[in-house]
Amino acid sequence: MLFFGGDYNPEQWNEAVWKEDDALMRRAHVNLATVGVFSWALLEPEEGRYDFAWLDAHLDRLYANGVAVDLATPTASPPPWFTLAHPDALPVGPDGTRLVHGSRDTYCLAAPAYRTAARNIATALAERYGAHPGVAMWHVHNEYTTLCWCDHTAAAFREWLQQRHGSLEVLNEAWGTEFWSQRYGAWEQVLPPRATQWHKNPGQHLDFRRFWSDTVLAAYREQRDAIRAHSDRPVTTNMMLPAYQNVDLWALGREVDLVAIDHYPDAPGLDAAADTAFAADRARSFAGGRPWLLMEQGTNTVYSGGRILGKEPGEILRHTLGHIARGSEGALFFQWRQSRAGSETWHSAMVPHAGADSRIFREIQQAGEIVARLGEVAGSTVTAKVAVLHDADAWWAMEVDGLPSKDLDYHDALRRAHRALWDAGITADFAHPEHDLSRYRFVVAPSLFLLSDAGAENLRDYVAGGGRLLVQYCSGVVNDRLHARLGGYPALPLREALGIRIEEHRPLRRDEVIVLSDGTRATVWSESLRADGEALLTYTHGMLAGKPALTRHRFGAGESWYLSTRLDDSGYAALITQIVGSGTPGLESVTRHAQDGTRWQFFLNHDVDPVSLPEPGLDLLTGAHVSELPAGGCAVLRKRRTP
Ligand code: GAL
Repeated sequence: MLFFGGDYNPEQWNEAVWKEDDALMRRAHVNLATVGVFSWALLEPEEGRYDFAWLDAHLDRLYANGVAVDLATPTASPPPWFTLAHPDALPVGPDGTRLVHGSRDTYCLAAPAYRTAARNIATALAERYGAHPGVAMWHVHNEYTTLCWCDHTAAAFREWLQQRHGSLEVLNEAWGTEFWSQRYGAWEQVLPPRATQWHKNPGQHLDFRRFWSDTVLAAYREQRDAIRAHSDRPVTTNMMLPAYQNVDLWALGREVDLVAIDHYPDAPGLDAAADTAFAADRARSFAGGRPWLLMEQGTNTVYSGGRILGKEPGEILRHTLGHIARGSEGALFFQWRQSRAGSETWHSAMVPHAGADSRIFREIQQAGEIVARLGEVAGSTVTAKVAVLHDADAWWAMEVDGLPSKDLDYHDALRRAHRALWDAGITADFAHPEHDLSRYRFVVAPSLFLLSDAGAENLRDYVAGGGRLLVQYCSGVVNDRLHARLGGYPALPLREALGIRIEEHRPLRRDEVIVLSDGTRATVWSESLRADGEALLTYTHGMLAGKPALTRHRFGAGESWYLSTRLDDSGYAALITQIVGSGTPGLESVTRHAQDGTRWQFFLNHDVDPVSLPEPGLDLLTGAHVSELPAGGCAVLRKRRTP
């Protein structure tokens, strides 16, 4: 069975609406509801006094209606009493401003009072519902996103630094504090990176990010373990994608029983479809071969630069299948019924303000029916032969002050590499630079500014062993302490694998466009480098004229490419397809495999014209034979292993 449903916040409604919810959930084939995410104020109206009667009634009603529950701990939104009782547990910004209730996510994860309150409510819920037959899984917190710079944080940060560095001397060396008179003489002098006059110390920034990630993991584990003491159901928390990076998602993936993600594209149309694949491929990769689940998407929501754009007819189904094709064990939405008041009145829902007689609910019903028909794919997996390297340290390293260009953007580089592969019809995994990469026939390293020694050696060994590696500009420039690589970039093992030595970074001016030897245009960045191998493209401007811009090198049994600038979209797409080939333009095709050899081929036609399928077959979505998909059409074909 695949899951279909969404966040259900019945406390906003009354009995008549609950009755209608039951009927509409049946019509829409809803089988899972996330309950209680924002219910702290109702569950614990005063500190230590719990009221579970209303939740008992909803869980029993849902259970009787065939809807299982993903039961949340409400700790992402502490109630107003919490502010008054524990003002020291509210978050403080880098500039010293302390936030108060009136919104949500207002807590400091490092504050003991918050951690205790969160553990207590999680324990109380687990004690009461740990054995409830309707509880299918647990949803700890919601999108761990809040950062804090308060005094509790400062104390916890110092403890973390002591563990990591052992002594102040090592910390001073790691952070390069000899410069700018930043040397610390006592632990009490060390602070989180609060507002400063000018550039913050980069090492302090990176260590703070790592520390905060560990703080999130510890807070999650505390609740998870409190739940596990009373329940054998899987426990998870929902990762917020794409751009928040307040936790190392590889590490969080290892802590949860089931990786769960929320996905809200930031641009409509084809970009939203590509972003769906970007989110889904990351989720599958963080899950490391275990199941994962799309925990939230919007029915009619594309957050785009201060506007909430709608989705086009058919996109609810295409986005849903886009996630399931890439391994999701179903598709859930935020939220079931659109709020009529409060902070998310305009966020779309499965039952919109217009009610069930609406395009959106009809599309939800259709998607629910189709997901129900696809139950047989549950538990099957997706394997990819190509990977994009994803590393939290590299991401955080590119946020530090004082880099050579403000146009360096790790998230952009990551997304762009994935997009070029998606456009070429190639399914990609994400991998960490230190993972075993030998199963991939091609690996892309987007701007991995920070690369550890172990990562650089791993990439060299991958190429030596027969791998094909594309490394992009501004990679391997600093080690895991943010110290510059000396003697030429990138890190030595990678220099060997790429057959290059970079002497100088030459960032481009704002809006500057350069032209390479074959007419391809490039922006943002350029480098002065020497290459042992072939120069596939050269620069044509200034002091770099005639020098390599794109190189290819044979090393050991493998091959490597180094791209020293940011190619325009068509040049980049051409490079990617030249290296890995391409599928049918506009036709997204992904295969899920079961252990018994059965395969399900998912096809999504993003083109404006009909496309022919590579092979005709029986479509599980309609029960009809298909050989061609209309514009926007989808199909899922089952292939059994022939004996
Ligand atoms: C998510 C969040 C939900 C809801 C949703 C829609 O990021 O987890 O609680 O706010 O966005 O805006």
